[in-house]
Amino acid sequence: MIAYPRIIAHRCGGALAPENSLAGLAVAARLGCRAVEFDVMLTADGVPILIHDETLERTTTGAGRVADRTLAEIRRFDAGGPHHVAFAAPHAEHFITPVPTFAEAMAACRRLGLWPNIEIKPAAGHDEITGETVARWLGENWNGTGVISSFSEKSALAARRVLPQFPQALLVEHLPGDWQAQLERLGAVALHLAAKHLTPQQAAALNDAGVPWAAYTVNDPASGARLYGLGAAAVFTDRPDLWLPAEM
Ligand code: G3P
Ligand code: MG
Repeated sequence: MIAYPRIIAHRCGGALAPENSLAGLAVAARLGCRAVEFDVMLTADGVPILIHDETLERTTTGAGRVADRTLAEIRRFDAGGPHHVAFAAPHAEHFITPVPTFAEAMAACRRLGLWPNIEIKPAAGHDEITGETVARWLGENWNGTGVISSFSEKSALAARRVLPQFPQALLVEHLPGDWQAQLERLGAVALHLAAKHLTPQQAAALNDAGVPWAAYTVNDPASGARLYGLGAAAVFTDRPDLWLPAEM
């Protein structure tokens, strides 16, 4: 059984720092968060990095597809400026907020005492290899806790094959009719789903089945309180600053 912290900082530090960055992890830790979520994708040379989109434009100064660029190429881009001018690095290379590798993010989690939800986010056509690579890294380097999730069942099953003992959560937007079968197929011990689509009846069904569930993305404490009232184990938020450390 997974012991969920109550608050999970979404994409590392939520909206308070560049998403999926080491700066975000530091913000989360400073605010008292105990858990973070981030998205992991492979570069062209097969290195797992933290990034949400399949393309570089929205979150970095780069362009093109993540899966077509090597780590060295991606590292030249700034992932700070697109978030906010306070993180921009127009003048000096040493100010650049780089896209972190998965290994760097996990080292930061260890150092900061953060429990990671590792969301495997494969680029199209790279489902299995992304799941395998993440799981292999965990098997060789990580003796801590955490939970894997993925919208890609292929990725999740690939990770399961490589690292059967690591906890997994089924990740969905809408709760599917066959959620119990999907949980079983994956050997998942929890479920992550979109708060905006969840009905009280669905929450009750999950609670009756004894499945811990966490809802994304919840950016005000009143909505969080409503979800805890429905039985949520945790909520993912872009605004962890709106909760007190004692509530996390
Ligand atoms: O893993 C929960 C949440 O992050 C899923 O949505 O698009 O923000 O990765 P997304
Ligand atoms: Mg995510």
